[in-house]
Amino acid sequence: MSDRGNFSGRIGFILAATGSAIGLSNIWRFPYLAGQNGGAVFVIIYLLCIFIFCFPVMIGEISIGRAAGRDAYGSYTRLGNKKWGLLGLTGIVSSVIILSYYNVVAGWAFGFFVEIAFNNLLLKKDFSSFFGNFVNNISANLFYSFIFLLLTSLSVIGGIQKGIERANRILMPALFLVLLGLIGYSLTLPHAMEGIRFYLIPDFSKITAQTIFDALRLSFFTLSLGVGGLITYGSYVKKSENIVYAASVVTWADTVVAFLAGLMIFPLVFSAGQSPAEGPPLVFIVLPQIFQDMGPVVGKLMGSTFFLLLCFAALPSCISLMENPVAYFVDEKKYQRKNVVIILTAVVFIIGLPSLMSFGAVPFLNQLPFYKNRDFLTFVADVTDITLTIGGCLMCIFITYKWKIHNMNAELATGNSNFMGTLTQRYINFTIVYVCPLLLGVLSILVI
Ligand code: PFF
Repeated sequence: MSDRGNFSGRIGFILAATGSAIGLSNIWRFPYLAGQNGGAVFVIIYLLCIFIFCFPVMIGEISIGRAAGRDAYGSYTRLGNKKWGLLGLTGIVSSVIILSYYNVVAGWAFGFFVEIAFNNLLLKKDFSSFFGNFVNNISANLFYSFIFLLLTSLSVIGGIQKGIERANRILMPALFLVLLGLIGYSLTLPHAMEGIRFYLIPDFSKITAQTIFDALRLSFFTLSLGVGGLITYGSYVKKSENIVYAASVVTWADTVVAFLAGLMIFPLVFSAGQSPAEGPPLVFIVLPQIFQDMGPVVGKLMGSTFFLLLCFAALPSCISLMENPVAYFVDEKKYQRKNVVIILTAVVFIIGLPSLMSFGAVPFLNQLPFYKNRDFLTFVADVTDITLTIGGCLMCIFITYKWKIHNMNAELATGNSNFMGTLTQRYINFTIVYVCPLLLGVLSILVI
């Protein structure tokens, strides 16, 4: 296994998996979905999904990867058979598709950072039309998303310890510090407490089926489950590591960052008298307005820091999305890492073009007639969200019926000699064997 590379130790894996988990969804998607779905009530359902379904699924994925020591396809094939390998392959393909649109949104964040820090974005009058023009500007978006993809590719070419670990060691702590600073500022603003009330005091009459569905898919997405990315990262974890402990740190860190992002954004939104239900543009339209209100110097500083933070969050997620297919080609096809990354970069860039052009440049892509006249990027995001939630549940079926739960338990007990017989073990087993397959059944009925 040494030629594949390993994480240098517990902290290396935890940082990389946390980096993969914490991403655009924590800072961009979680607050806007919470804003659209009634605030605190969404937060509660989201937390329940994270701890009931997602934490055990994460542990299952990591243990499959470490037991097999291979990429997602190779791990399912080794522990199961070639048919199960298809589940790994589907996840690998989903990773590439997710990366193709995710990189576009990361490009927006990068573009907004540049526009605020080095141009005069905050002097604009109407941020809604600025956003419309910005996402419609193909050449600028090609540039920003290409630069972002390049940063991702260079980190992945660097390999496990040199590239991925080093990038995460710097980015994760930086992200945390910047977030704390912005929260401190937002809480001092007038009407901040209205935002806090909206965010933290639940109104259960606001629960709908949509609230539950949005919370569920977001919780799988935010922990990077269901595409096999954590199988791949798990394959680089040493046998002496305690998987349950590592997974709990990752889950908590991801949850804390999403929670802090809400704590930062809702006071800002309410203090500026804006609507929390603005939807996907919340971060890109509402926040620049708020930064403008802070005055030219503070606004520029806060605004550029915020969008830089969004880039910091997105990069390690992009790295893990790319590492998943790269590991497949390196492990299964014995290709050179560098060549694989170069080809994948081109592929991701090309298949991301329709998403990049789906905001006005190409009218058909802006209003898909077969998808409620919504844009192509939203379509791809919604479809991949479903595949990864279903992928996570199918993984539980794989563990239960093919690999067998006692093998997973044995893997988890390696590096954690006290695991067997604990409440944690029973809870993880129960969720994987009963709860997630049930969830899959309910989901299939809803989707079909
Ligand atoms: N977890 C990332 C986020 O919250 O933005 C997105 C993601 C990364 C999903 C890696 C899936 C994945 F494999």
